Amino acid sequence: MSTADPSNDLMERIVALAKRRGFIFPSSEIYGGLNGFFDYGPLGVELKKNIRDCWWNDMVRRRDDIVGLESSIIMHSKVWEASGHVAGFTDPLVDCKVSKQRYRADQLFFAPVLVEEKIVGYVSVLESERTAEELQAAAEAFKRKKAIQGKLEPVQPRDMTEAKPEEIPLIPSPATGEPGSLTPPRAFNMMFETYVGALRDDSAKSYLRPETAQGMFVDFKSVVDTGRVKLPFGIAQIGKSFRNEITPRNFIFRSREFEQMEMEYFIHEDADWDKCHKEWIEWCRQWLLSIGLPESHLSLYAHPKEKLAFYSKGTVDIMFKYPFGVQELWGIAARGNYDLSQHAKASDKPMEIFDEATKKKFVPHVIEPAVGVDRILLAVLCAGYVEDEAPDEKGKMEKRTVLRFSPRLAPVKVAVLPLVKNKEALTKRAEELYAKLKRKYAVFYDESGAIGRRYRRQDEIGTPWCVTIDFETVEKDGTFTLRDRDTMQQKRIHEAELFALLEEKIY
Ligand code: GAP
Repeated sequence: MSTADPSNDLMERIVALAKRRGFIFPSSEIYGGLNGFFDYGPLGVELKKNIRDCWWNDMVRRRDDIVGLESSIIMHSKVWEASGHVAGFTDPLVDCKVSKQRYRADQLFFAPVLVEEKIVGYVSVLESERTAEELQAAAEAFKRKKAIQGKLEPVQPRDMTEAKPEEIPLIPSPATGEPGSLTPPRAFNMMFETYVGALRDDSAKSYLRPETAQGMFVDFKSVVDTGRVKLPFGIAQIGKSFRNEITPRNFIFRSREFEQMEMEYFIHEDADWDKCHKEWIEWCRQWLLSIGLPESHLSLYAHPKEKLAFYSKGTVDIMFKYPFGVQELWGIAARGNYDLSQHAKASDKPMEIFDEATKKKFVPHVIEPAVGVDRILLAVLCAGYVEDEAPDEKGKMEKRTVLRFSPRLAPVKVAVLPLVKNKEALTKRAEELYAKLKRKYAVFYDESGAIGRRYRRQDEIGTPWCVTIDFETVEKDGTFTLRDRDTMQQKRIHEAELFALLEEKIY
């Protein structure tokens, strides 16, 4: 994408704010960073924890049919053989032998340059929101450079997985612009390998999990035998997953270490899976709205039947409109009983449930809503980022940056601000309120600088409310001003009203 692209510019501003205000830093930055890895700073961890807590409360604690689990990140290598990840968890990889760059074949697009029905060369670009236009522009530039006469046909973009063997040597590498250096696509397994114990041979080999889901399948029987659960029921887990992505990109959207929130909802083999699938899609959509994502940014994408795995009955992704394009946020898959059956076969341990009605045993089917915490966090940052104007101390309008987080997610819920710092009566009352709020909520105390500047600092980190302790507070009725981040309106309220407001909005 060109840097003149306004969406790219917006992304740059969001990334800069995330770094400047301590939400997200590149990992190992003092050593030049490590591609695909990120650290969450003081505000980032709070935001991330709030996302996890909201999900856990709504998905597990507030429902009677779902229980939680925390399985280990490194599991027996047989888990990944049975699940199919060792053989099939791959992305198609293309190398450029000259530049040593690596590309995901399905993200590297090319087209023959056709002039009056004759192929005169090839052009390539990396996938973007404007792949077709960029390829067309590249074809025009190619024709001009080679001074070829005649009418250029519209380009027909294909990705490298669709290239014929004889075309590969003719397609230019995006790194060098020259043909001849790209390799044919090969399957690249995305699991990070590791060794358990002192030996470094195949018997000690295992993997960092690429998804949390397998923990729920492998522990299915243990949960059934100990958890007093009855179909339909779900097992939910939040935890880190690792994928050696060929091209991590778009900030934390696709990284190599990320966190997932997954839930396996087990249903009877004869249950109406389609109805259940639809209900979970809607549940997930409603949950995203409940944490403040705008409906206008959400859409659904049903995977075409011919692209589904053979065992899959259907997958629908909830898509989010990020500044870099509409992309998958949450996948909701109907996986049949494939995973449990695979583990039953490989471990020789039955994964069945006894049906009291029919007196028959069966392997339950599953609906799997799987989402990344980091992808939600990025969506929340992008949807919340607003630049508008606010009056300064003298009433002059100035630019302000706001993160319009929902109160449920905001890393700081309230900022407590004494109007001036050199009046003990004010600071004492402010400190008292701060200490009381702090027992229950993440709050911030700030007495330095002009009040307008202090508001601005809180707007930029998404604090929904500021309370200002002024002379009226200590000399009159004890009320203080409550300032709303989004409307910037102020009103006087009592302490009890503030606690009631927080109780209502933060759950
Ligand atoms: N168990 C099913 C599963 O893992 P997936 O579509 O591969 O399905 C589920 O992943 C979700 O995890 C995605 O919808 C996305 O939100 C998140 N995710 C996957 N790969 C990711 C990556 N490399 N970086 C950040 N989040 C990722």
